[in-house]
Amino acid sequence: MEDVIKKVELLVKEKLANDASGHDWHHIQRVYRNAMHIQSKEGGDFKVVALGALLHDIADHKFHGGDYAIGGKVSQEILTHFQVDEDIKTKVVNIVKGISFKGAYVKEDILSLEGQIVQDADRLDAIGAIGIARTFAYGGSVGQPIFDPIIPPKMHSTKEAYASGKTHTINHFYEKLLLLKDRMHTKTAIEMANERHAYMEQFLSQFMAEWVIPQKLS
Ligand code: ADP
Ligand code: NI
Repeated sequence: MEDVIKKVELLVKEKLANDASGHDWHHIQRVYRNAMHIQSKEGGDFKVVALGALLHDIADHKFHGGDYAIGGKVSQEILTHFQVDEDIKTKVVNIVKGISFKGAYVKEDILSLEGQIVQDADRLDAIGAIGIARTFAYGGSVGQPIFDPIIPPKMHSTKEAYASGKTHTINHFYEKLLLLKDRMHTKTAIEMANERHAYMEQFLSQFMAEWVIPQKLS
């Protein structure tokens, strides 16, 4: 592994070690590995994909007063500190800036091939069995209930409405997670997403069946 990638990896590992909101170091490591796997099949600049994956959650708007530019700014500082070439730095910062999901009806940023690969890898980790675990971990970390049948999901048209919407965790599947399969870019990720998507659908139907049966008995 190149020196600078290793240095950034160590810094990110230290910074995110104790995170309990779904952005812990293990999430970054899984995204990094999936991104490198996708890059090996689809091409793109190895270094840009690696640094983009490592830095993509370095500073989250959700915990910085809704500042969507914070991740790009912090990444810029880190890459400048490690004297990364301007060209690579710009490409990586653009990935970090453009990667977030901002609501069902909010237009997505146009990404480079490397950005598409990192976004696909990040989205793979938001779905399937790991996605289910992460979303309930996040819901718990913000004090959100697991489910409330009287609150339906909302398809948000602005990033502000998406970010401030009070919801329960089951709604997050309909507001984001089940939409991700059709927003994957690369063939490699689409194939991986199909299986994870089917697993979430199975989970949701089992969850609803278990929720409804006791109500019928009472
Ligand atoms: P990512 O790292 O996939 O870009 P986010 O920063 O959007 O993820 O969120 C981190 C984790 O928390 C993800 O697994 C995501 O699905 C979950 N999450 C985000 N918002 C909510 C929410 N309102 N309710 C439940 N889970 C959420
Ligand atoms: Ni992420």
